[in-house]
Amino acid sequence: MIAPIERGLSGLREQTTMWRSAGETIGVVPTMGALHQGHLSLARAARERCDRVIVTIFVNPKQFNDPDDLKNYPRTENEDARKLESIGVDLIYVPEPDQIYPDGFATTVSVSGLTNMLCGESRPGHFDGVATVVAKLFAQTSADYAFFGEKDYQQLQIVRRMARDLDIPIDVIGCPTIREEDGLAMSSRNLLLSDRSRIHAPVLAEVMEDMREKLRDGASMTDILPDAKARIVAAGFNDVDYLQLRDGSDLSLLDTKKPDARLFAAAWLAGVRLIDNIAV
Ligand code: PAF
Repeated sequence: MIAPIERGLSGLREQTTMWRSAGETIGVVPTMGALHQGHLSLARAARERCDRVIVTIFVNPKQFNDPDDLKNYPRTENEDARKLESIGVDLIYVPEPDQIYPDGFATTVSVSGLTNMLCGESRPGHFDGVATVVAKLFAQTSADYAFFGEKDYQQLQIVRRMARDLDIPIDVIGCPTIREEDGLAMSSRNLLLSDRSRIHAPVLAEVMEDMREKLRDGASMTDILPDAKARIVAAGFNDVDYLQLRDGSDLSLLDTKKPDARLFAAAWLAGVRLIDNIAV
């Protein structure tokens, strides 16, 4: 059965209040829709852990830097609802924009430090938009658990820090990146790739895996970076935004591997910005 769709905060609260008074735990999976297997794996993880599962779908204007990117972001609500059917989600929350940002909305949640690097550098204000909407969704759903993909690893760390700093009583759970058979990390943005670009897209993950092997063998980023970038560009990518080794918890920059090191990449392929990260 397709889960009920709720578009208003009062309806959402009515439902969650009933669940809470019955002593049930609530899990939330925040999304912007255009659901793929990565999102579905989050919903399944929530289903396994929580009595009640809410998937939210809201294309958040505050986290887009480019108005065209916001306009072109895929919106597939009916399909999304059908995809969630087999998982047994209890509620799909698709708030009207004024339920998130009512007239006169004047608050921004900003996590310093973690937001200045990687995607934060080339997308100023993006993570403020993310932290603000996620704080609202946590408050609105009063969930006990929230599920985020490691695909957006920087976002996951920022949300964890935000929840901790603001004493929001929610457990933020990171779930592994789900990949296509050829290694491309699943993302709603993959829908924007042309057939030709889609063929080249997995090169990003391939190069990162080769880098991981070399780092494990003791190579430094200084040694291996020029060749790795050249391979990505030779495969048809227009530009490498970043390709960096960082600490998995505080995201500080590294040159050689250490426990919890992760490799992070963002690159442009025919107008589509792809990101990926892997543990080293
Ligand atoms: O990862 C996303 O889809 C979005 O950044 C999120 C967490 C739903 C906030 O809008």
